[in-house]
Amino acid sequence: MPVKTIIEPFRIKSVEPLRWTTREEREQLLRAAYYNLFLLPADDVLIDLLTDSGTGAMSTHQWAAIMEGDESYAGSRSFDRFRSSVQDIVGYKHVIPTHQGRAAERILFGVTCRKGDIVPNNTHFDTTRANVEFGGAEAMDLVIPEGRQPSLKHPFKGNMDVEALENLIAKVGRERIPLVMLTVTNNSGGGQPVSMENVRQVSKVCRKNGLPLYFDACRFAENAYFIKLRELGYESKTPKQIAQEMFRYGDGCTMSAKKDGMANIGGFLCANDDKLAQQEKDLLILTEGYPTYGGLAGRDLEAIAVGIQEALQEDYLRYRIASTAYLGDHIAEQGVPIVQPPGGHAVYLDARAFLAHIPQEQFPGVALAAELYLEGGIRSVEIGTLMFGAAARMDLVRLAIPRRVYTQSHIDYVVEVILEVWKNRDRIQGLKLSHEAPFLRHFTARLEPMERVLAR
Ligand SMILES: Cc1ncc(COP(=O)(O)O)c(C=O)c1O
Repeated sequence: MPVKTIIEPFRIKSVEPLRWTTREEREQLLRAAYYNLFLLPADDVLIDLLTDSGTGAMSTHQWAAIMEGDESYAGSRSFDRFRSSVQDIVGYKHVIPTHQGRAAERILFGVTCRKGDIVPNNTHFDTTRANVEFGGAEAMDLVIPEGRQPSLKHPFKGNMDVEALENLIAKVGRERIPLVMLTVTNNSGGGQPVSMENVRQVSKVCRKNGLPLYFDACRFAENAYFIKLRELGYESKTPKQIAQEMFRYGDGCTMSAKKDGMANIGGFLCANDDKLAQQEKDLLILTEGYPTYGGLAGRDLEAIAVGIQEALQEDYLRYRIASTAYLGDHIAEQGVPIVQPPGGHAVYLDARAFLAHIPQEQFPGVALAAELYLEGGIRSVEIGTLMFGAAARMDLVRLAIPRRVYTQSHIDYVVEVILEVWKNRDRIQGLKLSHEAPFLRHFTARLEPMERVLAR
């Protein structure tokens, strides 16, 4: 009988010790962080599932490539390697390096959007939404209705509602839509994939109306693997072939290389349009750096050039998707409400269902994330009312799995902690906001427990 166990497709060469804290210490630490886990020192976290962004472990090949970094200001050979590796996958004419994904977004929307414009997306990520809105445009989420129902199983819950897109174009006119975006996978909607069929249909609508289609490509490799697993006709294609096909339906992309670039920092913006790319490079020079480094060191470009190819390796993707599903399935089996099916990079707890006694305005997601920290030193992140305000369709707690960092026993520990919190969920109370910034407020917000507010 063939062996069925899926193992981590790597062995460990360098280790980073973890630090334990007591529950009493965590109570104090949480109070000092105003119940906002972003404000915790990382050393006081045991298992850090705050994000999969920039937190991955690099391979020996990446570390070796780093030593080849060419730090020349202009015309660096590291840039040539970076560009050809990226182009090999995306196929776009211009590759513009940036220090991370949001810098690519700022440049793209800064050049293309005017006040009053509308940018449709399946679901904008928080930085994408903020960068669209910063210039006075509107960020519109057009994910399919199934994508808004956490417990509903659907193979491609990240798909865009194509009819809603057509209606929008007919209603506001194509002049007000500078571009259409597809986020693969759909992070804010549960890390859910977009099917090739949906990409094809969205692309057709865009081309018919003369609108550019851009990918927010952060997790393009995980999306490609989901297509391989779930979409008819793609079983025998490689993740790379699938990714290449997907990018062919678009005109450009933004990318945070901190995700499927397998790097700790970096990103890029791609475009086919020469005139647009020139404007983008001009802005890049003003704020990020010369177009052959874009705010990155040559060694960072090397790490991305290798990492973006490693992210497409099939044994890696098989392990990656299986280990996320392992966490999701083990807690869902015990009744814990999660976004179904588990996403590629993360498992999302449905905080509104988990803590049905806490009203939305008392931030059930933040309260649940705080409790996971108290119980087991696990750091997660709310994606809900604190992050999106009134626009929040769901209150989720994301447990994002860093790439190639934690082993199965770490994940077993996380399962145990979540089940303990689930058992005692009735004791968890809501929170009140006591300080907020004008935008991206979740990063710095301060909260306090309702108990304390009511006692005043
Ligand atoms: C879908 C999506 N888009 C954009 C970004 C922004 O990338 P960065 O954090 O590198 O600025 C992220 C980061 O988490 C993301 O998940």
